[in-house]
Amino acid sequence: MQRIQPILDSLLAQWQDTFHSTPEVIVRAPGRVNIIGEHTDYNEGWVMPGGMSRSLYILVSRASPLPPKGGKHHWIAADLNEELVFDHEEDIPLTRSIWAKYVLGAIHVYENDLGPLQIMLGGDLPIGAGISSSSSLVGGLLLALQTLTGDQKTPKDLAQLSSRVEREIIGLQGGIMDQFAIMLSEKDKVMMLDCRDQTFEFISASIPGTQWILINTKVKHQLIDSDYNQRAAQCKQAVQIIQHTFPEVKSLRDVDENILIHSHLPETLYKRSSFVVKENHRVHEMKQALEMKDATRAGQLLQASHLGLQHEYEVSCDELDHLAYLANNSDGAFGGRMMGGGFGGCVISLVADVAMHDFEKKVMHSYEKEYGFAPEIIHFSLSDGAEVIAMPPTP
Ligand code: GLA
Repeated sequence: MQRIQPILDSLLAQWQDTFHSTPEVIVRAPGRVNIIGEHTDYNEGWVMPGGMSRSLYILVSRASPLPPKGGKHHWIAADLNEELVFDHEEDIPLTRSIWAKYVLGAIHVYENDLGPLQIMLGGDLPIGAGISSSSSLVGGLLLALQTLTGDQKTPKDLAQLSSRVEREIIGLQGGIMDQFAIMLSEKDKVMMLDCRDQTFEFISASIPGTQWILINTKVKHQLIDSDYNQRAAQCKQAVQIIQHTFPEVKSLRDVDENILIHSHLPETLYKRSSFVVKENHRVHEMKQALEMKDATRAGQLLQASHLGLQHEYEVSCDELDHLAYLANNSDGAFGGRMMGGGFGGCVISLVADVAMHDFEKKVMHSYEKEYGFAPEIIHFSLSDGAEVIAMPPTP
């Protein structure tokens, strides 16, 4: 958390240089980690995410209306060194600046016209690493807009709005995990979230003598969105077939091994469904393992999850498999698995404190030897959800 001040100072200095003012509101929105429960959220199952200390900062002001036309929109993505200044939304180069599409999406679903906005985004959240920088942007911006308008939407309302941006504007048929974690997390806890009724409880993920870390492959393979939507469609298709025999089934969340065996699914749909059924079980088993502080059991669940994601759900990639293999087969490493949508991004791993140094060395060396570049090891703590850290004085 010591990192916040220098990052903010530098963003504020850039803001001052650009706009000759201070922003009206500043929001910090965390990235999202997920201990277990992957691709279960859009199947109305369970997930175990949390907010992380790496964050995005969102600085916003209303542009002052200047004659004759009023102020312009002026948006800056500081980490990408990109700046957009425009009068009309149609002028925004959305295909080049994907981040602007998310900004626009948040402004649209918020449905409260604030006129032209000055926006600056920046922080220490890696982009495209499967830690949901996009939902962090959208959720954080919605909170900033709400602060400017004085609306009273709850963090849950904002999480649901944020999810609409992903589904309706971006076109990704995602679940609610990222948005809930980003808006509602609690420091030092993960949330066990039931994605059907959207209820959750907080649990501790800390096991004495161990640490959770992320290892970023630094790759992001193409077609992520279409592969993701294809998996979501396959799950829906599987449910339709299962319903012929078991009409009470509403989603894969309602399916157990017995139903699966008698459901006459074609091979691919069987594999996808089987993964989701087992992954849902693993979330509950992980809860027990964490309560028992049982690192060995937690590690076995991570390994099983990765193998399922690799062979049954087929959303992994070579680089993720390489890192997961090391996380599951090294001294002092209890286990690891790919995290998030897949096809690149990070592996999450549970490692003994005493083994951390050697494990990191081994991972860096082995990965670099194989792929010609080093992965990034990310140490993190679990943080609160999105929060306003500076706001306009009340009149
Ligand atoms: C992405 C989506 C989430 C979730 C994960 C996979 O992060 O945004 O809703 O489906 O993939 O678990």
